[in-house]
Amino acid sequence: MKSSLLYAATAFGIALAFPSIPSQGDDRFHKWHPAGPADVRAPCPMLNSLANHGFLPHDGKAITENITISALNAALNINETLARFLHEAAATTNPQPNATTYDLDHLNRHNFLEHDASLSRVDLHFGNVQPFNQTVFDKTRAFFTDEIITVQMAANARKAAIDNSNATNPEFSLSEQGEGFSLGESVAYIIALGDAATHNVRRDLVEYLFEKERLPVELGWSRRKEVIKFEELSEMIEKLANATASVPSEARHLARNAGFHAGVRAPMPRS
Ligand code: HEM
Ligand SMILES: *[C@@H]1O[C@H](CO)[C@@H](O)[C@H](O)[C@H]1NC(C)=O
Ligand SMILES: *[C@@H]1O[C@H](CO)[C@@H](O)[C@H](O)[C@H]1NC(C)=O
Ligand SMILES: *[C@@H]1O[C@H](CO)[C@@H](O)[C@H](O)[C@H]1NC(C)=O
Ligand SMILES: *[C@@H]1O[C@H](CO)[C@@H](O)[C@H](O)[C@H]1NC(C)=O
Ligand SMILES: *[C@@H]1O[C@H](CO)[C@@H](O)[C@H](O)[C@H]1NC(C)=O
Ligand SMILES: *[C@@H]1O[C@H](CO)[C@@H](O)[C@H](O)[C@H]1NC(C)=O
Repeated sequence: MKSSLLYAATAFGIALAFPSIPSQGDDRFHKWHPAGPADVRAPCPMLNSLANHGFLPHDGKAITENITISALNAALNINETLARFLHEAAATTNPQPNATTYDLDHLNRHNFLEHDASLSRVDLHFGNVQPFNQTVFDKTRAFFTDEIITVQMAANARKAAIDNSNATNPEFSLSEQGEGFSLGESVAYIIALGDAATHNVRRDLVEYLFEKERLPVELGWSRRKEVIKFEELSEMIEKLANATASVPSEARHLARNAGFHAGVRAPMPRS
């Protein structure tokens, strides 16, 4: 009797402390710690955020396929097939041959998945590609000309980053694969943070993710209710490519080579 009362009181107390928000019930959404000195991080604002929240190991190390699948599912509602695919691409960046895991800093290796013309990182020619760089991101943000980012604005911002690197970096290169990743990354923030029906995304949510490496829960964002699958990604990549190119054949060419990190079958390592 006593224990059941205690149980009821405890449950009630917990219910008051954490009012139930169905999709946000997982308390990792509310926990966040930046990387410490022994923790490693990637050039990816989302993976860094997931490590900061503890969906991925906080130290950023030894990430297995199961960890990637469950983190991307729990935090973002990403389909398992897509998560497995992303994990396999990530594991190719591990310097250990045939590795099945990766550390977040393996993703910094240039021209594996990491590429020039990022939205928020300097090109390798100019310095360390891993950390967020406000100067670079401010150039990107300038193309987000309204509170709601449209696919066209995302396309303009991405194209400007490419043109800027092309004009300023004497070592600039962007392979077709790199261009595909780049399309996929812009699509990724639209899909993960945006509206599933319109594919518009609030500018404040996007800025928050990049600048704080934190899920924008306190701004009202929540994990998408609709599962994020490959098909949506490919379609959006094509849409973004279409919005980038003025010539339709050029758009088709871009879309064909796109990857979200998608479309990639065999990343071609180059050290
Ligand atoms: C296992 C899954 C993932 C892997 C291995 C991965 C890997 C990477 C890598 C290597 C980059 C750097 C590319 C560059 O040089 O700019 C990157 C950038 C990026 N990633 Fe991820 N990523 C993953 C999942 C996600 C997800 C789910 C999102 C959703 C929002 C996301 C959003 C982005 C964005 C927006 C960038 C561009 C950053 C910039 O251009 O400054 N990523 N990712
Ligand atoms: C991954 O998760 C699956 C399903 O939960 C489990 O059957 C499998 O043993 C796990 N694999 C590893 C390597 O932990
Ligand atoms: C890695 O895999 C390749 C191809 O499957 C194989 O030939 C090679 O021996 C493996 N290397 C190691 C270190 O296991
Ligand atoms: C950020 O990038 C700019 C150039 O784009 C560079 O001048 C600056 O040093 C970078 N900041 C840091 C902290 O690396
Ligand atoms: C970079 O600039 C050159 C010269 O203008 C152009 O031919 C090339 O297509 C540009 N590269 C990209 C990826 O836009
Ligand atoms: C994930 O998406 C693929 C298609 O991309 C689909 O075949 C598969 O059934 C989906 N998995 C789940 C668990 O819904
Ligand atoms: C991209 O443009 C092509 C050619 O105009 C069009 O056929 C295709 O439907 C467009 N794709 C998307 C996803 O809007």
